[in-house]
Amino acid sequence: MNLIFLGPPGAGKGTHAQLLMNELNIPQISTGDMLRQAMKAGTEMGLSAKRYIEAGELVPDEVVIGIVKDRLQADDCKRGYILDGFPRTVKQAEALSEFAQIDVALNIALDDEVIVKRLSGRRVCLKCGATYHISTLNGKEDCAVCGEKLVQRKDDAPETVQNRLSVYAAQTAPLIDYYQKKGILRTVNCPPAGTVQEVYQLVRETLGLK
Ligand code: AP5
Repeated sequence: MNLIFLGPPGAGKGTHAQLLMNELNIPQISTGDMLRQAMKAGTEMGLSAKRYIEAGELVPDEVVIGIVKDRLQADDCKRGYILDGFPRTVKQAEALSEFAQIDVALNIALDDEVIVKRLSGRRVCLKCGATYHISTLNGKEDCAVCGEKLVQRKDDAPETVQNRLSVYAAQTAPLIDYYQKKGILRTVNCPPAGTVQEVYQLVRETLGLK
């Protein structure tokens, strides 16, 4: 199954993409994680992406289209993949349609109020991409998967989150209509107090998994 996870920042795309990756044994391809890894490694692309990411703006289409096109050539994508955070503009969606066949675009919908609360408590592992929330970490500061020290993303600062939400509404939300017209959109409306497991069950049901 070739999937796109759509949805506003903090809706839970990464969290549920990782659960699904483990269940279906297909890769989660997160452009956000790839860009942050490039920033950490200090590559030319990472350095040029840094100013966009830290301001909550989108990295130029050409950069992310190139990254995804290359990544989808890898052998581990042959049995399917989950695109997490790509495409994010109509231009990216049109480019994707030239080199990939998508089965489902899953829209994870959540209220802005809940998003702001979640992002203020998020901690991430920049090495393996695992995501946590301080409410469930019980004071732990290291990644349970790889042991790396967890960090708070710079773009999770409240004023940057507001900008990311505006950028999402202006540039990414039109993709809901785009994939609706293509007949492959499915939506999960997340209950504000739904736990990760409850929302994941909704994701599974929406995808028709037994
Ligand atoms: P990216 O990393 O993709 O960020 P995003 O889309 O803003 O999404 P997030 O990672 O913030 O949230 P998420 O939906 O994955 O939520 P999560 O599962 O972590 O992109 C970052 C930046 O990179 C962009 O702003 C842009 O600059 C650039 N970029 C990336 N892709 C690009 C593209 N295609 N084009 C151009 N630029 C691009 O969950 C959030 C928190 O909530 C976590 O703490 C989690 O533990 C918690 N949580 C999740 N579900 C629940 C639940 N049910 N109950 C309680 N807590 C929960």
